[in-house]
Amino acid sequence: MLMLIDDANLDNIRRMYDTFPCDGVTTNPTILKRETDKPWDTLLAIRRFLPRNAELHVQAISLTAEQIVQEAQYVLKRLGENTYIKIPVTGEGIKAMRLLSRDGVKKITATAIYTAMQAFVAAKAGARYAAPYVNRIDNLGADGVQVARSIHDMFRVHQLECDVIAASFKNSQQILSLCQHGIGAITASPDVLVQLLDHEVTDQAVEDFTQDFYDQCGDGKTMLDC
Ligand code: G3P
Repeated sequence: MLMLIDDANLDNIRRMYDTFPCDGVTTNPTILKRETDKPWDTLLAIRRFLPRNAELHVQAISLTAEQIVQEAQYVLKRLGENTYIKIPVTGEGIKAMRLLSRDGVKKITATAIYTAMQAFVAAKAGARYAAPYVNRIDNLGADGVQVARSIHDMFRVHQLECDVIAASFKNSQQILSLCQHGIGAITASPDVLVQLLDHEVTDQAVEDFTQDFYDQCGDGKTMLDC
């Protein structure tokens, strides 16, 4: 399962890459708006920082298929390889996916997905990833994790070349459920990604081990100088 950072803040991205085995970054207009720089400055800085093989997902803003196609071609050209164009699953968005796919563009991420059928249609239209919004689906009174799982299963049953990139998480448990199900990818904010690792009993165990070592060998000692 790929793990991506749903954030455009370069300090946050650097901090996550420093510790976590990350596979890239996803953005959307709301995430870009949080930054003081204009979108292109932010995106180019992220692309410069990311390893060459890391994915960068960037959303198209246009509302008609023809304009989405133009925007997609521009974004993919300017940000280079391993960039994915995110296209919302509106009628015009699906039409744009079909046009792009027909032209050989494979790096399409269908986004703003709230139902399994939207994901299915997007996959058939040529999307490489489908992004169900897990937490937002929960907030509508449905089960976001279950929707993401059923999309994954549907893709496999129909042998569609599309993977789920689940998005919109509020806690690490939602990610765990999808990881156990073999989902292709998740993208989450740094706050949620950090929760995947944090456990106070682990911290306590390390503190106890360290103190026992210091008691035996002296404060600050390690295996290098005990
Ligand atoms: O990638 C989509 C995601 O950013 C939406 O997340 O937290 O705004 O529901 P959220």
